[in-house]
Amino acid sequence: MNKKIKKILNKKNKSKIVCLTAYSKNIAEILDKHCDLVLVGDSLGSVLYNFKSTKEVTLQTMINHSKSVRLGVNKSLMVFDMPYNTYRNPQEALRNAKMVIKETKCDAVKLEGGKKIIPIVKKLVQNKIPVMGHVGILPQTDKKFTFKGKKQQESDRILNDTKLLENAGVFSIVLECIETKLSKKITNNLLIPTIGIGSSANCDGQVLVIDDLIGLSKSKFKFVKKYIDISRIIENAVKRYKSEVIKKRFPTRKHSFNT
Ligand code: KIV
Repeated sequence: MNKKIKKILNKKNKSKIVCLTAYSKNIAEILDKHCDLVLVGDSLGSVLYNFKSTKEVTLQTMINHSKSVRLGVNKSLMVFDMPYNTYRNPQEALRNAKMVIKETKCDAVKLEGGKKIIPIVKKLVQNKIPVMGHVGILPQTDKKFTFKGKKQQESDRILNDTKLLENAGVFSIVLECIETKLSKKITNNLLIPTIGIGSSANCDGQVLVIDDLIGLSKSKFKFVKKYIDISRIIENAVKRYKSEVIKKRFPTRKHSFNT
């Protein structure tokens, strides 16, 4: 088993697993120093491209961003989010996942879904491709983005899905916007770690979209915590630059080539 995956599995019930998304090298380099897992999420569709849905994200776009992220990630596990319609059956999933791993050198792939994708997960795992699951809100296919686990039937289905995914061989599962008591039940019911986003502190680890955390996106989700307003910092720097260019204070002799 991949050493980085083993490290993540070993954290279950011991210490929290720190995960973030990255879409390019410079940010990835910073995250790599502090994260256990870096996810190249298809959330880049809305965060970077203003797409209404992640359905519009193509495999090639994900590959391009992942190649950039790979340049910055060394220590942590790098996970590639398989976009919509790239894993509709086991054969398609295997073909695309093999190509993605060859092109991007990612360590694992992530797939959204429960019972329906079990044969797909099994096919990848049988072919030694590490798979991360994703249940709760499924941005690729859900119509409504409301938190999951309000109704008993829905809770039972999600709990069952996570067990099926574990048995199929996923090494971890993202729980997206799952009700607090249900995320605890799922986490306690599994031997593999759960990674929450909007799913309370009951999960074994947490993930957020980096642009949300640093205040680069305009996201207003309840589960997001903005740790810094980087947009303001960038804007201040740009304003100072503009002013210095206009006032001819930049560039100075120091920034010029002089003989
Ligand atoms: O696409 C993404 O960034 C994700 C995370 C939010 C888990 O799937």
